[in-house]
Amino acid sequence: MLAKVRKAVFPAAGLGTRFLPATKAMPKEMLNVVDKPIIQYGVEEAVNSGIHNIVIVTGRDKSPMEDHFDVSYELESMLRSRNKTELLNVARKISDLADIAYIRQKEALGLGHAVLKTAELVGDEPFATILPDDVIDAEVPCVKQLVRIYEQFHAPVLAVMEVAPDQISSYGCIEAEPVEFEGSTDKLFRVRNMVEKPKREEAPSNLAIIGRYVLTPDIFDCIRAVTPGAGGEIQLTDAIRMQLSSRQVYAYKFDGKRYDAGDKLGFLKATVELGLKHDSLGPAFREYLRSLSF
Ligand code: UTP
Repeated sequence: MLAKVRKAVFPAAGLGTRFLPATKAMPKEMLNVVDKPIIQYGVEEAVNSGIHNIVIVTGRDKSPMEDHFDVSYELESMLRSRNKTELLNVARKISDLADIAYIRQKEALGLGHAVLKTAELVGDEPFATILPDDVIDAEVPCVKQLVRIYEQFHAPVLAVMEVAPDQISSYGCIEAEPVEFEGSTDKLFRVRNMVEKPKREEAPSNLAIIGRYVLTPDIFDCIRAVTPGAGGEIQLTDAIRMQLSSRQVYAYKFDGKRYDAGDKLGFLKATVELGLKHDSLGPAFREYLRSLSF
């Protein structure tokens, strides 16, 4: 029987250098977009995809993240004593969200290395991988879309999106052939090869890999076999490329919008667009933006 995707891995041990100085002493995963830290968007996406076991890979200075998902007795008792029930529920909901385990990546030796740290906790079953600095706004959670493909094709699935030709050199790019899925041939692809940050003229497609994956446990052996690249980093893309020689890997053009909240401009875009969509803040924020003269 096909194993269910029950666990999600969150690599959150990177150094966040693109967001200095904000990330000098604070993990970028705790940067706030509208009213919650970016990692909470990812955890909520996992939970809304039916995944309640979360493994977060942390590095130094990551304790604010652990505190955020923990019960805050002091805050809760203060809110209770002041009869602030609604706020109490907001605080309580975060610590009740999911079962979260933490594992330390002592040195930021790459995304592949971070994922490998979770091998014992994940065990012999498929798992989602969520890069928390990619915040995704979607009607159906992106991970849920990938899990559906996994359940049908019994294979690893990467989320991809179309990017402009002058942007592709910032991403991992797939070479792939279309696969018919639900009557369409432009959503699902069988991956033939992957190229990390190709030059514009050498990119095999305009399909960029973003920070959502459903992986199978054989990926751990592939990561172990990968030779570290520049700076000693072990890349997840290299391990998935290795997997291609032994099994099929799919890529799915997900429905939704992805923001790179680990990048300053991407973060501002997420703040504005998600602020505009926010239930209680949206209307006043829209009015405020309209009042600005550019
Ligand atoms: P990024 O390359 O976006 O993160 O890695 P970074 O290295 O923190 O950021 P910059 O480029 O210096 O600004 C993608 C994801 O992989 C995690 C990061 O935390 C991020 O969520 N990661 C990366 C690790 O957990 N460990 C690593 O060694 C590298």
